[in-house]
Amino acid sequence: MSKLWGGRFTKQTDKLVEEYTASISFDQQLATEDILGSIAHVTMLGKQGILPQADVETIKDGLRQVHDKIKRGEVEFSISDEDIHMNVEKNLIELIGPVGGKLHTGRSRNDQVATDMHIYLRARVVEFVGDLIKLQEALIEQAKVNTETIVPGYTHLQRAQPILFAHHLMAYVSMFSRDAERLMDSYKRIDTLPLGAGALAGTTFPIDRHFVAEQLGFGRVYENSLDSVSDRDFIVEFLSHASLIMTHLSRMSEELVLWMSTEFRFVELDDAFCTGSSIMPQKKNPDVAELVRGKTGRVYGNLVGLLTVLKALPLAYNKDMQEDKEGMFDTVKTLQGALQLFAPMIATMKVNKDRMREAVNTDFSNATDIADYLVNKGLPFRQAHEVIGKTVLYCIQQNKFLLDLTIEEYKQFSELFEADIYHVLQPETVVNARNVFGGTATVQVEAAIARAEAALAPVRGWFEEKSEIINKLG
Ligand code: ARG
Repeated sequence: MSKLWGGRFTKQTDKLVEEYTASISFDQQLATEDILGSIAHVTMLGKQGILPQADVETIKDGLRQVHDKIKRGEVEFSISDEDIHMNVEKNLIELIGPVGGKLHTGRSRNDQVATDMHIYLRARVVEFVGDLIKLQEALIEQAKVNTETIVPGYTHLQRAQPILFAHHLMAYVSMFSRDAERLMDSYKRIDTLPLGAGALAGTTFPIDRHFVAEQLGFGRVYENSLDSVSDRDFIVEFLSHASLIMTHLSRMSEELVLWMSTEFRFVELDDAFCTGSSIMPQKKNPDVAELVRGKTGRVYGNLVGLLTVLKALPLAYNKDMQEDKEGMFDTVKTLQGALQLFAPMIATMKVNKDRMREAVNTDFSNATDIADYLVNKGLPFRQAHEVIGKTVLYCIQQNKFLLDLTIEEYKQFSELFEADIYHVLQPETVVNARNVFGGTATVQVEAAIARAEAALAPVRGWFEEKSEIINKLG
């Protein structure tokens, strides 16, 4: 059979042009979405009396058969049929004869491809919210058993103030909960049906777009036919949200890599999530974390790539837009791998509490608290800061830490020091003194964990509700 659009042409397409313009090598991933869209479309054509019901049934049956054949790997996709839409249509016509040619009534590949992408990405966004829930659950579980584990907190990667390890983990829970929120918000816009826009202007057939939307579980229909086929904002949004998730995963990766090093030894990732060296038998490398950090680059690249494709594109559809797919598929695959590995990797991570304690005992991260101690005794903060700066310098010169100084030594720096300073300087006192909303005191962190768990409940509800809509489509 010749090209579906061959009528106006007098020559065969150049072989290189076929290869260059075809998208079937990657958009075959949209076969299920494409067929779902077609079944909804042709059902609507029947309901509207645009096609006889008998033809509609033949076409629907044929589409289901084509789908089964594709799933069984029995369809050989062809570059000369360009993309998934024409490959499916060609196969349909081969199977059921010329009646298959009625499927494309009142439709264009422009609204068809946009619909496929919406159906595809809508499902992925729901899955990613599910993956983010699992990752947050893993972090919360680790936080729960570390509400008394004290670790140095850093700024500039220099020891700053001691914090609970749980508090550090809960910072990531906050980040991932914002990510889930962003994805859920983006769902509203992905959940909009483009089909029925035709090539750009609508169609002369009396179609019912809202009926199609209902069948495909879409909450809305695009307002404007040009926008229906030109809009790729929903993909840009997804790539941007994915980039931020990767940013968060990459920051955590960097910390895990540091914490796994002999210099830190704060955590140990499970053997199942590390790899060895082909030459150095002692090595246990945190490859997953490293690779997630590394793969963040390609996700950013995909975002910038699509923004650049869209920049200055005139309305409505342009072939440039075919470039929206590979970056999106690649991002989906990269993000799926990262999130699905991170949850069990965090869940099985061993926390070296003793080593963390040793680190806290051998630093000056309690220095702020003696400054605050002097302030409480009436000294202006600036002067207190100066006094403690000198005290710390003295310690460094004497090779001591703040808890090692005698009360006489303290009194050299200020007469305000009393014996209670030793209690104030204990890491537990330091941590629990930060008893403000969002602070690192154990009671605050326990409350934060409880709030985070409660906040996950509606997200789980959303995930279940949307999963049901998507699973109903089959
Ligand atoms: N393969 C095309 C894409 O992915 C489908 C839409 C083609 N439309 C057209 N008028 N050539 O964008």
